[in-house]
Amino acid sequence: MQIYKVGGAVRDRLLGLPVSDVDWLVVGATVEQMQALGYRPVGADFPVFIHPKTGEEYALARTERKSGRGYGGFTFHASPDVTLEEDLIRRDLTINAMAEDLQGNLYDPYNGQSDLEQRILRHLSPAFAEDPLRVLRVARFAARYAALGFTVAAQTLELMRQITESGELQALTAERSWKEIERALMEDQPQVFIEVLLACGALKELLPELDSLFATPGERGQTTLAVLAHAAAHDQPLHVRWACLTHDLGAAIKAVNQRFKAPRECQELATLVGEWQHHYQQAAALDASTLLDILQKFDIYRRPQRLEDFMAVCEMIAHGHSLHDCSQSAYLRGAAAAAKAVEVKDLVQQGLTGQALGEAVKAQRLSALEAYTQR
Ligand code: CTP
Repeated sequence: MQIYKVGGAVRDRLLGLPVSDVDWLVVGATVEQMQALGYRPVGADFPVFIHPKTGEEYALARTERKSGRGYGGFTFHASPDVTLEEDLIRRDLTINAMAEDLQGNLYDPYNGQSDLEQRILRHLSPAFAEDPLRVLRVARFAARYAALGFTVAAQTLELMRQITESGELQALTAERSWKEIERALMEDQPQVFIEVLLACGALKELLPELDSLFATPGERGQTTLAVLAHAAAHDQPLHVRWACLTHDLGAAIKAVNQRFKAPRECQELATLVGEWQHHYQQAAALDASTLLDILQKFDIYRRPQRLEDFMAVCEMIAHGHSLHDCSQSAYLRGAAAAAKAVEVKDLVQQGLTGQALGEAVKAQRLSALEAYTQR
């Protein structure tokens, strides 16, 4: 049997980037041989194994054919007579279809290295279309390697457009799409992900609410991209980036959250931003009772980080609109401190309980905020 390093590990090493995950390919072996060597099968009916010591993935060389709609619709053929070239040709991009043997020799039957040098994301064959997730993957790679000067080949973008037009993107599960979105959002230039999806028409299928912002006057789509780019430049976490991406979708935010089954933290922040971002801009003009409503809604007493995350998104939104005055954050932080300064235990010591206690706490917080707003 021959063992090769394949996929991202080879690509990233050639690009001089750090390699975290290594995928291995085994040519000329049977399932039984792998098991006899102590490799653990990943699933009952997939020819992928885990190395007993390193925990890395070893896949038997296979050919794949699409046999139906969606991710489940694949039949594959794994056997010791499948060659390295046959395995590599089923892969998505030329730059992902290189292999390296244990002596460090490079195998590059489909000119991946030349495309790496030319900074081109190019599909390998028409079989690219067999997995519609690849449309999102290419957009994600474009975002990841934008700083290195990579662009999507014109023919690949055209193929992505055809896949989109065939309606196949609708067959993607929320989980698979979200995984790509999540990874793309965490890249250094996540806005490129959206730009590529927009360019091939896929944004209209995946996120029509965002797509339509690019058709409305006022550059709302471009502004959203600028907001997202700022969030990445400021190293913001996933939920902040997600709320930046969705900040201008209005009432559609809920449906978008649900469509991708976004994690709770992402959903929550996106919803709060949708609801309260306009209040942020006018923070200094809010009366004490509205301020109290906001602080209660954010539950600043138990979850102080939520207000911080909200303000981070609002600051990114302000940057995206070329407004660089973020004094509202300091103002809201001051209001939160004033409300928090009310000592519940003093009221408890006065013998208050239940509803009476709740009302008294609220009244004291309100007067603290009244004092704060009149400073
Ligand atoms: N692959 C593919 N089509 C897919 C998913 C994966 O052709 N839909 C192939 C590619 O050759 C890819 C390899 O399987 O390089 C490994 O996939 P994966 O680990 O998902 O991606 P990487 O290329 O390793 O990239 P990343 O750094 O994003 O993990």
